[in-house]
Amino acid sequence: MRVLQAILLCLPLLCEYGQAGDPVGHLKPLGEQTLPTVPIDEFTIDNAPHPYEFYENYVKPSKAAIFRGVMLNTSGFQLWTDKYIKENYGTMEVRVEGKKEKESRIPVGEKYLGRDSIGHFVDHYHLPNTSMYMVSELPEVMFKEVGVLPSVGACGEMAKRFVEIDIWWNGGGGRSVIHKDAFNQINCLYRGDKDWKLYEYKYEKWIHKHWEPENEVGGYSEVDVDAVDMYKHPNIAKIPWSNFTIHAGDCLFLPKSYYHQVISKGIQNLAVSILFGRFDGVEHIDVSDCHDETDYKTPKPLSELDVMWKWSGTGMMSMGRGDFESGYRSSLLDMAEELQAIGQELNADAVAELWGSGGEDDGKIRHGKYDKAVAILDSDGDGKLTVDEIKSVTWSQFREFGFEVEPHEPSNSYLFEYSLITYDRVVQILKHALRKKTTLTRDIWVRLYTKVLEGTPEFANKIFNGLVGSEEINEIESASVT
Ligand SMILES: *[C@@H]1O[C@H](CO)[C@@H](O)[C@H](O)[C@H]1NC(C)=O
Ligand SMILES: *[C@@H]1O[C@H](CO)[C@@H](O)[C@H](O)[C@H]1NC(C)=O
Ligand SMILES: *[C@@H]1O[C@H](CO)[C@@H](O)[C@H](O)[C@H]1NC(C)=O
Repeated sequence: MRVLQAILLCLPLLCEYGQAGDPVGHLKPLGEQTLPTVPIDEFTIDNAPHPYEFYENYVKPSKAAIFRGVMLNTSGFQLWTDKYIKENYGTMEVRVEGKKEKESRIPVGEKYLGRDSIGHFVDHYHLPNTSMYMVSELPEVMFKEVGVLPSVGACGEMAKRFVEIDIWWNGGGGRSVIHKDAFNQINCLYRGDKDWKLYEYKYEKWIHKHWEPENEVGGYSEVDVDAVDMYKHPNIAKIPWSNFTIHAGDCLFLPKSYYHQVISKGIQNLAVSILFGRFDGVEHIDVSDCHDETDYKTPKPLSELDVMWKWSGTGMMSMGRGDFESGYRSSLLDMAEELQAIGQELNADAVAELWGSGGEDDGKIRHGKYDKAVAILDSDGDGKLTVDEIKSVTWSQFREFGFEVEPHEPSNSYLFEYSLITYDRVVQILKHALRKKTTLTRDIWVRLYTKVLEGTPEFANKIFNGLVGSEEINEIESASVT
């Protein structure tokens, strides 16, 4: 069976890697199993499509496209050295992860696990003993230096559906698993090179998708991209794929739900990705604001356009949240119309039904929360949302509303550490430490917690305070902990 498989896989290719009957590319890096056969259209600033054509020919049919050199004239491309960014934006906070997605541990930033200041990141991301990848919402103060590809941003409806702006920054060597994202995106590289491998959504059945609860819009493949196990994951070789490199100054249009794997190269590798609406089922976009005088050759600064979720640089981040128009407004309108038809009104209970988990939850918390959410949108204060009220909700109202109704993703908050370092693991090392010694000092505890559990001193101290009931006591007697 295995031999037959190997022969079948080898036939169309030169079996230069085939060894002792193993399938081609077995235990080799992703990409060495079959040749890439799906070409991607390429443009420059001079022949980039008008937003209407771009929508019709690329966004609607989910077809990727490359735009070479289009960001070369932007201030981001011209200004963004480590030094400039640190001096101008050093105090802004960002989310950080390990360089190898899903496997490496979450790094400790200046103060918190998984969260760093830009200044601290710049000082540390090149050190050989750290593995830091900034994967974060981009602070809004930097929007003025980001360029918007004219094919989405010069005019038309896509420019009015920007959902979230992310920064991807590492010191080279960052690599992802094969995964997909919910939104359409324009991913522009300002520093370094990125090698991309793309797999169209229609081949999802062969991607060896990791099982996930419910039908999430994200998703990733179980294939080990460093050493593909062709016995465990043979279907990956059935997928026609695209292979290319994006250089600093280039942008990639990556359609929603398109599977991709990315390797970052260069000692400074920095990309900004503009996530915009999915436009599911939209036949044509509105381009009534496009004119003869529209400038289709110059990327606008992102600060000239509105974005649904904007990161202030401190507090609760909003990565991974919903689309105000195709998500919030249209579900509220649909529900209001449905209820109206049967003589009922859209109140906090109905909103709870739309956004609630559906599972059992504590009625008090739940009702307080949805009452507050409705009050944000309810212009006449009568506790109900009419179709007219929903139509006139602004994005800043939706932003507040979203913070109330959407579940909080732990990595968006300062308390991320609590969700990574579980109670059980804390109890386990505490018991272990107390078995060896009759008293445990605060210093030893902090060292244990940060070395063994890889958390922060701040949280180690918080836990210690909790155990001894005070910030002043620095020892625990083993007899006092059970
Ligand atoms: C950059 O600006 C110069 C001068 O305005 C222009 O000639 C060139 O086409 C621009 N290049 C890009 C990629 O926008
Ligand atoms: C990494 O090395 C630097 C100096 O080279 C040191 O200051 C820092 O504490 C080290 N960090 C870790 C996590 O070991
Ligand atoms: C994929 O592209 C990169 C450069 O962009 C190249 O080095 C590599 O050999 C290509 N892989 C295949 C299998 O064609």
